[in-house]
Amino acid sequence: MREKLLILEEEAIKRIENTKDLKELQEVRVHYLGKKGSLTEVLRGMGRLSPEERPVIGQLANQIRDRLEEKLALKEKELEEKELNQRLALESIDISLPGRRPPRGALHPLTRIIQEIEEIFVGMGFTIAEGPEVELDYYNFEALNLPKDHPARDMQDSFYITEEMLLRTHTSPVQVRTMQAMEGRVPVKVICPGVVYRRDTDDATHSHMFTQVEGLVVDEGIRMSDLKGILLNFARRMFGEETSIRLRPSFFPFTEPSAEVDVTCSSCHGTGCRVCKQTGWLEILGSGMVHPNVLEMSGYDPTRYTGFAFGMGVERIAMLKYGVDDIRHFYTNDLRFIGQFARL
Ligand code: DAH
Repeated sequence: MREKLLILEEEAIKRIENTKDLKELQEVRVHYLGKKGSLTEVLRGMGRLSPEERPVIGQLANQIRDRLEEKLALKEKELEEKELNQRLALESIDISLPGRRPPRGALHPLTRIIQEIEEIFVGMGFTIAEGPEVELDYYNFEALNLPKDHPARDMQDSFYITEEMLLRTHTSPVQVRTMQAMEGRVPVKVICPGVVYRRDTDDATHSHMFTQVEGLVVDEGIRMSDLKGILLNFARRMFGEETSIRLRPSFFPFTEPSAEVDVTCSSCHGTGCRVCKQTGWLEILGSGMVHPNVLEMSGYDPTRYTGFAFGMGVERIAMLKYGVDDIRHFYTNDLRFIGQFARL
């Protein structure tokens, strides 16, 4: 019996030492020390021993059990450490790898131009006003001296929503809303950026939706020369100090007199080229002295107050400034196009 136990111990120790992982170690443990394990089996045969032998063998069996338990615990610790180290090596992160740069966004070219226009006019004491894109006929036409049957309404084909409501065809209704809100006080000195809509067939220079910036100044003693001075200053800040402007007589129902304003072509500096169709000039906006009817309808006495107004197309200015040849580029959102303005 004693021999049997010692052989068993030797064999068990060898197997413990040779185990490769924790799972195998558990199997070894069960094999020797489990309920049906070899050591337990040997001890079950103790009944056959003499009363003198029984305590001696019992003690030996307990010692062997203790020794094996100890060996198992040691081996378990060793294997655990080994597995942990393997896992750590496997899951380690190489922090020396350079990270991926997040892509940098850019303002849309139209947003940039609007911000630039705003900055220039705010620098000249203007404030910024806004109005609704879905507008009442009254503000879009009527109060701008365009009564219902006025032929000049045909200049701006409109999207009507109801008889009395439409998508605004220009930012000029914000002039009326501003004057109403000011309730006759002066000075009125605002610019109004915003989107406008017209029934147009889209092509390289036309879009059914585009952007305007409106301007309005009302006070005592405002003259056409004030308009000219403000717009010259604007043109120089926008297109360069060498820029000149010229005013051509024109017609708008809401201004009298009216003028279209050209700037010297930024491509050829006035000598004539393809961009300016050999004229040396580029039209950038419509303007004029606010019509007395318009002042009166919005609560300003036209015998006391005068004013000037203008309206410019933002896309047109952006196209001239950045050399863009098709207005549709602004709306198709091709990142190869709009991404270029990040660096400007
Ligand atoms: N509203 C005009 C348009 O959309 C532009 C314009 C012309 C605005 C003359 C004005 C102005 O304020 O005085 O074509």
